[in-house]
Amino acid sequence: MRRPASLTPPKGKLGVLTPGMGAVSTTLMAGVELIRKGESVPVGSLTQMGTIRLGKRTENRVPNIHDFVPLAKLNDIVFGGWDIYPDTAYQSAAKAGVLDAKDLAKAEKFLKTIRPMKAAFDQTYVKNLQGPNVKKGKTKFDLAEQIREDIREFKKKNKVDRLVMLWCGSTEVFLKSEDIHGDLDAFEKAMKTNHPAIAPSMLYAYAAISEGVPYANGAPNLSVDFPALEDYAKAKNVPIAGKDFKTGQTLMKTVLAPAFKARMLGLAGWFSTNILGNRDGEVLDDPGSFKTKEESKLGALEYILQPKVYPDLYGKFTHKVRINYYPPRGDNKEGWDNIDIFGWLGYPMQIKVDFLCRDSILAAPIALDLVLFLDLAKRAGMRGIQEWLSFYFKSPMCAPQLYPEHDLFIQLMKLKNTLRWMMGEELITHLGAEYYD
Ligand SMILES: NC(=O)c1ccc[n+]([C@@H]2O[C@H](COP(=O)([O-])OP(=O)(O)OC[C@H]3O[C@@H](n4cnc5c(N)ncnc54)[C@H](O)[C@@H]3O)[C@@H](O)[C@H]2O)c1
Repeated sequence: MRRPASLTPPKGKLGVLTPGMGAVSTTLMAGVELIRKGESVPVGSLTQMGTIRLGKRTENRVPNIHDFVPLAKLNDIVFGGWDIYPDTAYQSAAKAGVLDAKDLAKAEKFLKTIRPMKAAFDQTYVKNLQGPNVKKGKTKFDLAEQIREDIREFKKKNKVDRLVMLWCGSTEVFLKSEDIHGDLDAFEKAMKTNHPAIAPSMLYAYAAISEGVPYANGAPNLSVDFPALEDYAKAKNVPIAGKDFKTGQTLMKTVLAPAFKARMLGLAGWFSTNILGNRDGEVLDDPGSFKTKEESKLGALEYILQPKVYPDLYGKFTHKVRINYYPPRGDNKEGWDNIDIFGWLGYPMQIKVDFLCRDSILAAPIALDLVLFLDLAKRAGMRGIQEWLSFYFKSPMCAPQLYPEHDLFIQLMKLKNTLRWMMGEELITHLGAEYYD
């Protein structure tokens, strides 16, 4: 990929469309509104709070990321979305129970203005949900055409200049990439014949790319992660990214596992369990949707620890992940990890992590950063898979000949170096030999 020759400035409004207006989506919307009103601070968002070092350490050039790269301003964001329930963003946020009454009241007027468009939905792919706000169409292709029409309508009605789409919908059942996902022709034919391997999230992704709209997938289902749509995104000059927001337990995993490997400490086993009681938890109670999430959560350790390269340290570890739907906790997930490691002469040790987190409070700033960076990538002429955004994902998409990079700190370095590269600044290698000449 060539360095962008120029970067179009973020003029006008940016539309942010989320298929799925549940806990994550409405926490993002409410949060952006509270921050715009000066009522809160964008904690957790790298684009809003992060800085980036430029040049030598002696130069003292450390601008804020949002001053260094031309990002859209929060005031220029307009939200929209689709959901199978007709609830406004306010009703949905109230049901999700993430925000307290005080914060919800401050965002009430704004959230009430956001009504979901009719969803492209099929219960075959999300067993535990059923709702009335759904589109009708003879074929999956018809539904994708209707989503395209929604996008154009939204753009016209809200006078937005650019758009980004972010899948905040439920986790769909586990599907594997098959022949019909191999190229665009086969995929379009399969949509027209209602092939079972095409899930609704793929229709949104196809519609977004067709309309030239960058697309990111916050859930672990395939959605845009297969050759037909990857090639299509390239052909249409559309950036895409995924999958599955890296928020709680996997965030911790991709911090701790690189530390063990850095110190050459062995791993005998890693047992992860979760309880959560939100709608996401209810969806994941179905074995099909859980399988999709499980696959996404299991990948990180294998890739970070490289058992084949380090058979003595990581050749035989056991990795288990469990998620239990437990309504009393709502969105406040508890994730426990028991980690059995071993050190010098094979002596065993244990680490216990108990993360009492708030799922959507961790996900919302990630969603915001993804929206702003994808819009930046589009204006920079970048297209196809944006691997530099792996930082945000549990199961990062990457070129077929590569393995995904899971180590959070390598991901962060890649992200920041990509920003430096975009802006024609020197990349940072951390060598620093020149300070000792
Ligand atoms: N919160 C986190 O920390 C986190 C982390 C990683 C991934 N995720 C994933 O992000 C997604 C959203 O999470 P959430 O907590 O907001 O879930 P949620 O259940 O509160 O919201 C999802 C919404 O999507 C809607 N939906 C389902 N299928 C749809 C379709 N085809 N079209 C339109 N709407 C549809 C549902 O009706 C629901 O309102 C889930 O897939 C979840 O697994 C969340």
